[in-house]
Amino acid sequence: MRTTTARAYPNIALVKYWGKADEELILPAAGSLSLTLDHFETTTTVVPAPDAETDVLELDGALADAGQTDRISTFLDHVRDLAGRDDRVLVRSRNSVPTGAGLASSASGFAALATAAAGAFDLDLAPRDLSRLARRGSGSACRSIPDGIAVWHAGDDASSFAETVPAPDMRMIIVTVNRARKAVSSREAMRLTAATSPFYSGWVSSTEDYLEQMVAACAAGDFTRIGEITESHALRMHGLIQSTVPPIRFLNPTSHAIFDAVAEARESGIEAYSTADAGPNVAVIVRPHDAEALAEKLSGFGDVRVVGPGPGAHLLTAADAVP
Ligand code: PMV
Repeated sequence: MRTTTARAYPNIALVKYWGKADEELILPAAGSLSLTLDHFETTTTVVPAPDAETDVLELDGALADAGQTDRISTFLDHVRDLAGRDDRVLVRSRNSVPTGAGLASSASGFAALATAAAGAFDLDLAPRDLSRLARRGSGSACRSIPDGIAVWHAGDDASSFAETVPAPDMRMIIVTVNRARKAVSSREAMRLTAATSPFYSGWVSSTEDYLEQMVAACAAGDFTRIGEITESHALRMHGLIQSTVPPIRFLNPTSHAIFDAVAEARESGIEAYSTADAGPNVAVIVRPHDAEALAEKLSGFGDVRVVGPGPGAHLLTAADAVP
């Protein structure tokens, strides 16, 4: 074993994942598609601790709580199974955004951990197998293994991984409305939606349909169609989530105001489309030449950042280890 450091970036889905076909293997009920960003990275170092009795997690310089530590330990058990070893490890992880605030920190977190742990345990995994491994930590993490725009295939354990697909260049404006940790985790909220929403089966079948159209729009470089599907699918997901019993709402009045401002910008000739994950923050896709002007228009709603397509998860050199 060796000490290994990896870096990964969050991804924001343009066709969303909401609901599992298998809770243990983390297989999605439908496929999804996302953009991996070039900002908000997580850097994670895995240090072998062969004499320790438990794994230890340090998150942003502080010892993590028992719940967070258990979650990574369960994931590391899977890595240990693959490696045929039972060594414990010390995991030091740094996020450049607050954990659990709906900015996909679980995606960058588990993509970085999967990459660093696979290195530490000397697993020589093909990219699709690394994506499958990251999926076991947090479903959306499998989409942060490949670069840029990635499709995550629904399927069985062997076929459910993410890979890059051809797509036109675009920018994303992240409008951070609220940095607080969300009240319900996506994992728990998803489970409740699948168990209680009368719209769930329609959501699953229509998502597969949208995904097929989205992959075709990406291949054709059709930004307008990509945008229309992105905004429509995001609103459909939030509608679905609100139909959970008892209801769950992630968007707040500011989030809705941003969706409205983006629709107004469209009327005035800046073509842009909104989406939002399990939180109030909004991500807006836009053509590269319109990004700065639109970011300026949205700056009154919160902290605004223009980001682009980013690299997949990768190993760093020892000099970059998280202290
Ligand atoms: O992988 P999780 O459990 O963090 O769930 C991600 C859920 C959404 O971000 C809301 C949608 C998505 O496809 O990323």
